[in-house]
Amino acid sequence: MNHQNERLYLYPVWIRIWHMTNAILCLILIITGLSIQFSNPETVVKFNAAVSVHNIAGIILSVSYGLFFLGNLFTPNGAYYVIPVKGFLIRLQKQFIYYTVGLFKKENAPFPVTEEQKFNPLQQVTYVVLMYGFVPFLILSGWGLLYPEITVKSFVGLSGLDLTDLFHITAGFAVSIIMCVHVYFCTIGKNPTSNFKSMINGYHESH
Ligand code: HEM
Repeated sequence: MNHQNERLYLYPVWIRIWHMTNAILCLILIITGLSIQFSNPETVVKFNAAVSVHNIAGIILSVSYGLFFLGNLFTPNGAYYVIPVKGFLIRLQKQFIYYTVGLFKKENAPFPVTEEQKFNPLQQVTYVVLMYGFVPFLILSGWGLLYPEITVKSFVGLSGLDLTDLFHITAGFAVSIIMCVHVYFCTIGKNPTSNFKSMINGYHESH
């Protein structure tokens, strides 16, 4: 099949609205989160303001995550997040070799984007781990810090609150790193800006 100049409508309106809201909220949460963690009188955002904005953005993110979860449960978009187990590691390896070698030799992508296969195997595993692992974990630990009375008092001799805090910071760090890598990989498209345009107009442009 020739993918020359093909335009596929892969990002429905609800995904685009969710994604934009999510990206903005995550940026706000990272800036205010870092301000809280490394608070000193010279920080960009004042401590009290950083805490309030972080809490409000976290609550809105929880709602938007809930809508994303329901959207994937009840619309065809959820199918892209189901990883076929058979041969998965081989497919992952193929994609990895393409990103580290083939791409720089201008070889064709091993898993071209189609309507049935929106994500390549590496994207798929990243999005699944991110959206069904780190993000809900981050949100739940955040609620645990907002309402400390709902967390366990102690666990194997360690304070439940300290552990929740540690989990929250670790998951926040992981999501921040994944987001940077995600934005880099988004520049690998028909041209460096085409994937960003896809998330605005809904159409993916193939090579
Ligand atoms: C400034 C920040 C961000 C930018 C510029 C960005 C950009 C993009 C772009 C361009 C795509 C389309 C990918 C493609 O066509 O290959 C995409 C998809 C996606 N992004 Fe992001 N992103 C950002 C932040 C995030 C964050 C913080 C998350 C999650 C915590 C996230 C999760 C996703 C997911 C799950 C998809 C696939 C959505 C679907 O089609 O089902 N992104 N992003």
